[in-house]
Amino acid sequence: MSPSIVLDDDLQIFDIRQSGESLDLKSKIITGLQSLAPTLPSLLLWNDRGQRLFDRFSQTPSYYPFHSEIEVLNRHGSNIGECIPTSGVLLELGCGAIRKTKSILSSFRREQKPVHYFALDVSSQGLEASLIELRKVFRDCPFITITGLLGTYDDCVAWLAGLKNTSVNGSVTILWLGNSIANVNSQDEASAFLERFGTACQRADLACRFVVSTDICQKNHKVLEAYDVERPEYREFLLNGIEAANLALGYAAFSLEDWQPNSWLDELERNLHFYLTARRDLLVPLAPENVDGGNAMNAVKVFKGQRVRIVTSGKWSEEAMRGICSRAGFHIRQQWKDETGDYCEYEKL
Ligand SMILES: C[S@@+](CC[C@H](N)C(=O)[O-])C[C@H]1O[C@@H](n2cnc3c(N)ncnc32)[C@H](O)[C@@H]1O
Repeated sequence: MSPSIVLDDDLQIFDIRQSGESLDLKSKIITGLQSLAPTLPSLLLWNDRGQRLFDRFSQTPSYYPFHSEIEVLNRHGSNIGECIPTSGVLLELGCGAIRKTKSILSSFRREQKPVHYFALDVSSQGLEASLIELRKVFRDCPFITITGLLGTYDDCVAWLAGLKNTSVNGSVTILWLGNSIANVNSQDEASAFLERFGTACQRADLACRFVVSTDICQKNHKVLEAYDVERPEYREFLLNGIEAANLALGYAAFSLEDWQPNSWLDELERNLHFYLTARRDLLVPLAPENVDGGNAMNAVKVFKGQRVRIVTSGKWSEEAMRGICSRAGFHIRQQWKDETGDYCEYEKL
């Protein structure tokens, strides 16, 4: 494995992407728009600009998932650190700005416990910036190695499975923060996700455990206030998906002024869905030559008020989380909560 980006002597990023991401996104946009309940891929939200917008939004006072998780990690970072074996691999999925991981790595510094930290994300600029910042904080700790992985979760599964007979051995602790496990379409999908990572580790002869955080808040008013789509920070983050879709397609299929972000909390399934809703009847062209109203056959009709789902954030109960883990072949060994009891970190074995 040779690094694609060498940031300095002891900081490298490996590009583990397997397929042309833009090609993939393009076909996902088109099939999503053509489906009965139209969708756009949530990956569109996470380009370099999207990362910066999300990081800004996550700092707003009412966005309790960020503040509660920081509280849990500050209080219990050492206990969580104890779950990770000495000289083991700590692999963080969707690391973003890496604001939270510092509490866990700090416990390694205090105890002078060696760890190999790998941070995975899809945004190359974001990953570079976050790792440079993290390296500065842990510059004085030679026993904490820091490596970046540029790619998607799917790329990471393939990368993990290929670690057999490499210098990475022993165990992998997969850290998945920010309630990202619940950014999928269903609880079954979340189970399948855990299972795929578990199987990849098995293939590589690595013991696998997860440390996962989930937003278990069942108070609707608190949830809806945190994700208020009228708040400029969140609005801009969701609308950035429109610009990212145009970039992925390579032509201006969408105009910002035609779309309005909104949300719906499915109280039964405990999923908060985010949509981009058409402000007028539209024809979304599926090829560049149709941008100016060319062939209507090669365009998707979207009616005024019709919603296109872009991302979902599950607010699943503890009981639901137990089911998700057990269906994936994991059991919950420990859990740590914030003071309100609305946010939880789980260790799963
Ligand atoms: C909700 S943010 C969480 C960021 C950070 N872990 C935190 O807790 O603040 C989700 C992160 O996952 C990354 N992400 C989303 N989908 C991904 C995918 N399919 N593969 C890899 N990373 C992904 C995003 O780029 C983003 O940084």
